[in-house]
Amino acid sequence: MAITFDTSLKRFLLKTKNSEYAFSIVYDKFLKHDFYGKNKEEIKVPYYSFSPYVENSDPWYSLADNMSEFAFFGSGDFRCSSLRMRGKNGDSCTYFEYRGYEIFDGRKNIPGIPFSRAQEDTETLAVELFDDLNQCKLTLYYTVFPEYDIISRYFTIENMGECEVKLEKAMCINLDLPGHSYDMLSLYGLHPYERSVQRVPLFHGNQRVMSRRGASSHQMNPFIAILDRDATENNGEVFGFNFVYSGCFLDEVEVDHAGNTRVGIGLGDENFAYTVEPGRCFNSPEAIMIYSSNGLGEMSRKMHAFIRAAIVPKEVFAQRPVVLNTWEACYFDINEEILLGFAKEGIQYGMDMLVMDDGWFGKRNNERAGLGDWYTNLEKLPDGLRNFACKVKETGMKFGIWIEPEMVNPDSDLYRAHPDWCLVCKGRKGSLSREQLVLDLCNPEVLEYLKKTFRQTFADVPIDYIKWDFNRHLSEVGSPYLPPKQQDEVFYRFQLGVYELYDWFIHEYPNVMIENCSGGGGRYDLAMMALSTQIWTSDNTLGPDRVKIQYGSSIAYPAYVMSCHVSDPELHEGFLERLKYKYHVALGGMLGYELNILKTKQEIKDEIKSQIVFYRKVEDLIKRGDLYRLISPFENEQEISAYYYKTSSETSEKNERILLSFLQNKGTREKKEILLQVAVSEKDAIYMDEISGEEFKGSELITGIAITTSEKNEFSKMWLFTKKE
Ligand code: GLA
Repeated sequence: MAITFDTSLKRFLLKTKNSEYAFSIVYDKFLKHDFYGKNKEEIKVPYYSFSPYVENSDPWYSLADNMSEFAFFGSGDFRCSSLRMRGKNGDSCTYFEYRGYEIFDGRKNIPGIPFSRAQEDTETLAVELFDDLNQCKLTLYYTVFPEYDIISRYFTIENMGECEVKLEKAMCINLDLPGHSYDMLSLYGLHPYERSVQRVPLFHGNQRVMSRRGASSHQMNPFIAILDRDATENNGEVFGFNFVYSGCFLDEVEVDHAGNTRVGIGLGDENFAYTVEPGRCFNSPEAIMIYSSNGLGEMSRKMHAFIRAAIVPKEVFAQRPVVLNTWEACYFDINEEILLGFAKEGIQYGMDMLVMDDGWFGKRNNERAGLGDWYTNLEKLPDGLRNFACKVKETGMKFGIWIEPEMVNPDSDLYRAHPDWCLVCKGRKGSLSREQLVLDLCNPEVLEYLKKTFRQTFADVPIDYIKWDFNRHLSEVGSPYLPPKQQDEVFYRFQLGVYELYDWFIHEYPNVMIENCSGGGGRYDLAMMALSTQIWTSDNTLGPDRVKIQYGSSIAYPAYVMSCHVSDPELHEGFLERLKYKYHVALGGMLGYELNILKTKQEIKDEIKSQIVFYRKVEDLIKRGDLYRLISPFENEQEISAYYYKTSSETSEKNERILLSFLQNKGTREKKEILLQVAVSEKDAIYMDEISGEEFKGSELITGIAITTSEKNEFSKMWLFTKKE
């Protein structure tokens, strides 16, 4: 049993394979957090800290000093709160008391929002609290995934009273940790340099990682980790947190007056509000936490396995298609003849899906026009979309297509017909970004229009894959559809509209694989991963930048979702070397190509053919293997990165195999020797490198393979070890 309740201690205990999480009911009303992870120490509560206390408690029990499961705004806990609710009397003093609990197998669905799927051993604890004044029921749902050391939490609020209440802050996880000798690791960036790794010590005060952009964003990813100051890849305690949501979020970490740490993960307060009418219910998204006592590497591997098992949809195809994407090759300048040429050529070299990127619809000849007009541009595809797609499929290639449903250009028929269908604040002008505006997905009419237009345009078109883009963030966030008093709810309601549209697509086209994209990896989050098989990691396909982007992404997300393309290597001298480097980089995830194959040199095409053959040999290892990071490109001058994938319990092949990659972005004058240590299972076994044909003893790999750094920029080497039977 993963979840138990000790009636004498009044304590809930949530157990995963390697962690314990406990909280108790105190004074029959409050939920006091006890411990998480291995440290079961009680926190030090200051004797008197200027804090309000609970009446008749002895010694004084203060909500401001003790650890808490869910912190209410304005009721005596001065640290960052989990919930602020404006009630019927107009104040936001929030207060709920414990009422009861229920434990059940599996989990409940969260209507309208993506969530992690229950596994065989999943159990859920629902803890009910009540606010007598406003007659509202709050239920905290804890779902335990024992195998992955993951606990998720979300909450619902049911308004059983007669007056509406307004939620003004909503955090889904609140975790109080004793002490503050921790670092915080977060993934920051910009377009197109997503997910750089930052690690800083916690300090007294409030530190926030957040998005105000209406997307989980390139700028700050929802994932954070709180880890021991001396934690490494292989040692130390790590608490990881993430949010199954794609819009604005807040990760809030606060070191309080007594030196303890509070972590909150959720929707936040700046860009979230929600009115719960009498008789209605609010469902929050789900946040997850993960624990590892063996460093960051183990945390990542568990997180990866969890995402593969409980987040990503089932594979549509047995093998992940090797995509030939038209964007960097043609931009908007596409037509049937060129694209059919791509398909015929691509298939000969092992590619198996043509993805027609932007430019196929409306008057989409550049980024200024056409978004919103989802009908085929017959100048480019004179026989229509269906006939074109059929011709692509006749070549043997699968067919993929690009869309960006949430957006509209002012220069479009859609905008001219419905200028009031965009997000804009009344009385103000909406700013453009990439020449586009955002559709008001709070408005059901807009959603219905989009469904209708895609249904018509895609009728009988043999589509295998959709690349779903989102190329701007939200500003002037108002909805012409909603009344003035609900304008602060637009960020959240817009996001619900996005999820409704995704759900519709998934049900309408069940056999279509979705690749998510937002100007590269601007919605690289768990909710998008629950809706799409892979995500375009970044618009940046330059090898050295990609090394860092992919390394940072790997901290929280698996190669399984990471879409990686090799782009044109011909722009520079030494193109075959460059091609090899780009390819080695792209093998950090799911391979694809983005180049004009009709103009590509024969030597390159031949090389690509063998690259794809090799990729097919290691695809499963990359996709489902365990990742071990050896060297971080963020920590050395040459921006060296090294890591390997190893067969795991999930890979189809059980014999031990390891794909080891060494990538060096910048050259060095002074060469140095580096040892790449591979933790193989048998020191006396022989491991054969399939690439060079060399044989190594297990003990040699454990001691480390020596590699000498190069004076060249963009130097790489790869090994594929297979244990000899
Ligand atoms: C975004 C994507 C690119 C491409 C363009 C098309 O920038 O990240 O891959 O699809 O849009 O406009």
